[in-house]
Amino acid sequence: MMSESQELILESVRKYHREQQRETSFVPGVTPLLPSGAVIDEDDRVALVGAALDLRIAAGVSSRRFEREFAKVLGLRKAHLTNSGSSANLLALTALRQRELGDRRLRPGDEVITVACGFPTTVYPILQNGLLPVFIDVELGTYNTTAERVAAAIGPRTRAIMIAHALGNPYPVAEIAALAERHGLFLIEDNCDAVGSLYQGRPTGTFGHLTTASFYPAHHLTMGEGGCVLTDDLRLARIVESLRDWGRDCWCEPGENDTCHKRFGQQQGGLPYGYDHKYTFSHVGYNLKNTDLQAALGLSQLTKLPEFGAARRRNWARLRAGLDGVPGLLLPEATPGSDPSWFGFVLTVAPDAGFTRAQLVAHLEARRIGTRVLFAGNLTRHPAFADQPYRVSGELTNSDVITENTFWIGVYPGLSIEMLDYMAASVRDFVAARG
Ligand SMILES: Cc1ncc(COP(=O)(O)O)c(C=O)c1O
Repeated sequence: MMSESQELILESVRKYHREQQRETSFVPGVTPLLPSGAVIDEDDRVALVGAALDLRIAAGVSSRRFEREFAKVLGLRKAHLTNSGSSANLLALTALRQRELGDRRLRPGDEVITVACGFPTTVYPILQNGLLPVFIDVELGTYNTTAERVAAAIGPRTRAIMIAHALGNPYPVAEIAALAERHGLFLIEDNCDAVGSLYQGRPTGTFGHLTTASFYPAHHLTMGEGGCVLTDDLRLARIVESLRDWGRDCWCEPGENDTCHKRFGQQQGGLPYGYDHKYTFSHVGYNLKNTDLQAALGLSQLTKLPEFGAARRRNWARLRAGLDGVPGLLLPEATPGSDPSWFGFVLTVAPDAGFTRAQLVAHLEARRIGTRVLFAGNLTRHPAFADQPYRVSGELTNSDVITENTFWIGVYPGLSIEMLDYMAASVRDFVAARG
């Protein structure tokens, strides 16, 4: 039940939101067209302020509700919120290192197959856990790898595969999951850029043993900062929860006690019998929790996931049609069998285009059209990897092409058709002037 003063405040918040949103018309070349961004409506703002008024400043009811509802959206049994997608990746991979997994547990020096071209925090957890990344190349056009490349990279010490769906475009995840199954490997799907995408009619994030999401403003749903680890495997879920929550063995929510009815009735490790279960630590963990402020916003955002996905698909299709046939550019392609909820619209400048990526990007940025490179490009070329151990399977030719010649522009739901048409026209004008 809301108090009168709370109702008044939230009504003022709605009014304030409407004032902030007052329609400003799109001025080509002046209005910045971001590559990505949060789309926050009145209800989102009210949800966030409502949680603040209640002083739900740590994880609480909204966090637990978000976990249940988001798991339901993906049809998975368990979801655990984190403070970022990177933390979610760290937890997912660290879970595979734990002793509960017996012989299947990953051990130092074991190999994890991943792609060379993408976001670094898909790969860092492999190194942070003392494991060896095995880099494979991706295709141009889909910017994803193939099951054949994964198969060729499997060696005697390969234990897991950890790959992100590229900018919303699913990789052939059913085939890669089948390969993992045949070889007894774990599969982690980094779904941070692809929440709402489908492969063979099934949501990405539901093929692997573990999957992750990010709720940074650029992503399909936002909490400001935030992430999530999901799984259908209750044993893995327990490990993830413990690792997220300081490595503790107890699973009581803050303010709860003795939900196991054995708080003072067990003996673990070298501890005396009856040592408080609340302070018994079964994993070398972290504190990567979120807050209810974030989760309250996330719950409000979650109701809009289908509409956000529809807008991303519509925006991508509009750019794709607007740029069809433009010479000198490789246009993006959905992976066969997929229905991507796109994160961005990727373009690669052909070697014989007669212009460079730098020139095209400068032209677009001058028109206030925001551009991004495909994250790190070939990760192995970054200073961070200079002194890190890794193995490369095959050549990284396409990852190098992407590093030199690829960039992307926005399709996020905050862009209107008029804006997208201006973006496509700006690319076409540039190419026509050079052709
Ligand atoms: C594929 C992928 N994985 C993980 C992350 C990390 O997410 P976060 O920024 O929430 O840490 C990103 C970031 O954009 C990403 O693109």
